[in-house]
Amino acid sequence: MEFREDLIDLLRVAGSVVVVTGSGVSAESGVPTFRGGDGLWRRYRAEDLATPQAFSSDPALVWEWYDWRRGIVAKAKPNPAHEVIADMERYYPDFLLVTQNVDGLHRKAGNERMVEIHGNIWRVRCVAELDERFLYDNPLEVIPPKCECGSLLRPAVVWFGESLPFEGLTTASEGIQNCEVFLTVGTSGVVYPVASFPMLAKSSGASVVDINKDATPITSIADHTLMGKAGEILPELWRAIKG
Ligand code: OAD
Repeated sequence: MEFREDLIDLLRVAGSVVVVTGSGVSAESGVPTFRGGDGLWRRYRAEDLATPQAFSSDPALVWEWYDWRRGIVAKAKPNPAHEVIADMERYYPDFLLVTQNVDGLHRKAGNERMVEIHGNIWRVRCVAELDERFLYDNPLEVIPPKCECGSLLRPAVVWFGESLPFEGLTTASEGIQNCEVFLTVGTSGVVYPVASFPMLAKSSGASVVDINKDATPITSIADHTLMGKAGEILPELWRAIKG
């Protein structure tokens, strides 16, 4: 792929970069996306599996679905797109990754300056005591799993109708309002509040770069759109920048 010279210059000299990722960045690692042809929301109803109401009415069903997804994630490895994003953290003096993904693959690739704004699929929260911990058993021994106090554990992820963690949202908003380059990778840009981030970046003066295999609402406001697979485009782009 040919890259515009101004894009290469922009990414080569930038001091502060925020990267926002969605499930498309993990697609080439074998983790299903949510929307699109074979997306999870084509086969399952979010209302039945990813809301607090679904969990109260059938916690076992919700946990079975999460246990299945944890099984997929357990086998997945970071792909070249994750690896470039981890290298970006080492390259840019001021860097922040905001991911909507709960699969933990960015951390496996080496990112540390990151906000998992929808939580992490390996973390659980006691519904009574509200404390969180990692639970790596896969498959789970008992469904639904319980806390030592006897109450149910739930996945520590953000479900539809729930607020995003205040601290993570504040870190993300501050980073976005102060960055020179805002790069989105593999997100449909339709789930709020993350869907408002590209506009926030643009109105704060950042250049917006979007990498996606299809057009999205972000395409129309992006300064640079690179269409194709993240696992192919990002390594090529990164070679052009560093080379
Ligand atoms: P989506 O499934 O909505 O969108 C995935 C995006 O990635 C689409 O725009 C695809 O075109 C693109 N894509 C797929 N494969 C790609 C590839 N190899 N390279 C580049 N792009 C690719 O996923 P998200 O935007 O992450 O929330 O969805 C946002 C939120 O909606 C999720 O965090 C989840 C979901 O419902 C909750 O569960 C709360």
